[in-house]
Amino acid sequence: MNEREYILKLREQLHRHNYNYYVLSAPTISDKQFDEMLKELQLLESRYPDMFDPNSPTQRVGSDIGGDFQSVPHKRPMLSLSNTYNFEEVRDFYNRVSDALGGKSFQLCAELKYDGLSISLHYHNGYLKQALTRGDGVFGDDVTVNVRTIRSIPLMLNTDIAGLPEDFEIRGEILMPWSSFERLNKERAEQGEDLFANPRNAASGTLKSKDSKIVASRGLDAYLYYLLSDNVSGDGHFENMQLARSWGFQVSPDMRICNTLEELWNFITFWDVNRKSLPVATDGIVIKVNSLAQQRVLGMTAKSPRWAIAYKFQAEQASTILREVTFQVGRTGVVTPVANLDSVLLSGTMVHRATLHNADILESLDLHIGDHVLVEKGGEIIPKVVGKDKDFGHVELAEHKIGFVKRCPVCGSLLVRSNAEASFYCPNDAECYPQILGRLEHFVSRKAMNVGLVGPEIIAQLVNQGLVHDISDLYNVPFEKKMAESLLKSKEVPFERVLFALGIRFVGEIAAKTLARKFKNIDNLMSASLESLLETDGIGNVIAESVINFFSVDTNRLIIEKLRLVGLRFAISDAEIGVLQDVLNGQSFVISGVFAHHSRDEYKRMIEQYGGKNVGSISSKTSFVLAGDNMGPSKYEKANKLGIKILSEDEFLEMISVR
Ligand code: IVH
Repeated sequence: MNEREYILKLREQLHRHNYNYYVLSAPTISDKQFDEMLKELQLLESRYPDMFDPNSPTQRVGSDIGGDFQSVPHKRPMLSLSNTYNFEEVRDFYNRVSDALGGKSFQLCAELKYDGLSISLHYHNGYLKQALTRGDGVFGDDVTVNVRTIRSIPLMLNTDIAGLPEDFEIRGEILMPWSSFERLNKERAEQGEDLFANPRNAASGTLKSKDSKIVASRGLDAYLYYLLSDNVSGDGHFENMQLARSWGFQVSPDMRICNTLEELWNFITFWDVNRKSLPVATDGIVIKVNSLAQQRVLGMTAKSPRWAIAYKFQAEQASTILREVTFQVGRTGVVTPVANLDSVLLSGTMVHRATLHNADILESLDLHIGDHVLVEKGGEIIPKVVGKDKDFGHVELAEHKIGFVKRCPVCGSLLVRSNAEASFYCPNDAECYPQILGRLEHFVSRKAMNVGLVGPEIIAQLVNQGLVHDISDLYNVPFEKKMAESLLKSKEVPFERVLFALGIRFVGEIAAKTLARKFKNIDNLMSASLESLLETDGIGNVIAESVINFFSVDTNRLIIEKLRLVGLRFAISDAEIGVLQDVLNGQSFVISGVFAHHSRDEYKRMIEQYGGKNVGSISSKTSFVLAGDNMGPSKYEKANKLGIKILSEDEFLEMISVR
């Protein structure tokens, strides 16, 4: 065997060992032996650069030279499932299916509903070709480079198994196992970074990383649960999934054929309890009609198949005793009531604090110290109090109902009610300690001025020492070299992010971008009237009033003047203006369908604002079709025939976003 042949052989062996390890959990060689083989392959590949293969096991490590992800249309739209929450709704589904099949017998396949993000994988001749995220269901992002680093996703299939189609698509869920999630959040906490609220967010944030090395290091996992191919032998979903497993995919071992509603309900109640010991998060059970022929009879609605449904588990709850309610002041002065509880175990972690959200919710919960309360972990990391534990009835020792504080628990100012947020806030933004800290932390954060080296601890020190009082003071601190450099670098941050960094209430990243583009510089914005603010797409009453308020305060204007002297950017650059006006120059657009982010009229205006033209119907002169949901099939066909590019909403927004 020559070295070239040996490379191919090593690749195949490594793929198989990978499969044995990650999918079958039955390795036949030691980790050390695996690493040695991999090193040998790496060495050989370096000698034969012409034999580069993106699907080689050596490519699992990823690389940091990623670009933006391309948006690609799905061959078949990725639908969602309708949800059910109790036995009656599951029974209704069962009866609907039975009726639609004219009373013929049918089997159901019940399986775990994995709580990650869905992925569509395309294989050609046994090799992974493309991996797309769900996106808006019609267009997804091509994340193939990242997906290649996930060990349980095969790059090469066991081609010696009969029945492997030349081309097929398989869908599944990408997940971050609890163990990886906990490790990741621990690391992030140590580095003062924001924590991920749950494994789903962590998996999704990871998969969107531009650096596939990061993806490789985060320990993602994947389960496949839906095979789409016209040429597979089996007639059942369950059989297909067993086939897929033999080809090399990780398929859930916890799937079951149910012949009766009772069997189905037993499966559901079993997993409602036992899912807690699974290595990954699940949020329900998916129920599918097993026969593919019957699936075709049942068909689809616009949103979801009629042959499948999800049953969602109730979030886990725990009962404990309320000891105290404290009030926390956030960056914008909003005061949040927090319940301090007797420690209790909930979804694997000890909980002793839970949010009570706001004054209205606190009021409706009717709480007293000593009450037995139920806490629940929703999708968020912070548990919440959802009600009183009725099993304990009224507890006598509790005196009066807990109400909201009237004054700021930190600085003592009288709180003000904000209708926009159904919350109370402390108006003393200039002097109230947590607000001062919060504003500074926000200012240096990654999405704002990105002064990574100046973290929360340093900020607290500076404030406590009296060196810094507001954001403009940061530029006068005699920092050591590295920090000084990163502050210097922040002077290049574009206007829209500076505007965001100012921390104007309700002005998030998107509003800041919109305002920067419309008003071009801070002077225009400072002198803008309420009317002209309201005329801006995407700016409503709440934001407009907040902007007016912010600039009516003298200290805020003073801070801006100081920052201007320091050299921060308070205007969009000529280059940005140029790009703004020109991006769509000379291009004509046809708009079709329903949109999620903006109305059709808003899109028309945006097209004109950026130099493009709106036209009514598709012709060979049309440059693009901007397509939302439910675009008419005839338009779709025509555009395709004429070779006109169809843009999704996100692609269009990307096109006009100025970087
Ligand atoms: S089947 C047309 N099976 O749940 C049916 N989906 O709301 C395609 N999911 O977007 C989905 N586990 O991300 C299916 N065992 C499973 C699943 C599953 C999780 C997710 C999937 C989908 C969502 C449905």
